[in-house]
Amino acid sequence: MRLVIKNLQNKTIYISEKNTILQSLGENAIDWMQACGGKGRCTTCKMVILEGSENLNELSEVEKKFMALNRLKANERLACQAKPKNLQSETKIIIQVPKIYQLPHILYND
Ligand code: FES
Repeated sequence: MRLVIKNLQNKTIYISEKNTILQSLGENAIDWMQACGGKGRCTTCKMVILEGSENLNELSEVEKKFMALNRLKANERLACQAKPKNLQSETKIIIQVPKIYQLPHILYND
């Protein structure tokens, strides 16, 4: 399955169900904010899902907690919690990095 990062010049990587999105980003040398180191505590790894949310796993308990606290919106997921569940190669998920969590050394196109 493909993961397209829209505001990163439509950078596209292939992701597997074995890894969280955050792990797949790391394996593809894409720097991503992750203040708690992928432990589901900070929300800085947040991604906005533009298309294909149905191809991700169910919300984790920590994501449900952050949604109840209004720290995660309905169209957002934590990259350290989300994993693909539909691996057909023609399937894709389109995401973007929220402005607030963009890294200073990376050029985003939004
Ligand atoms: S890295 Fe902290 S919640 Fe995902």
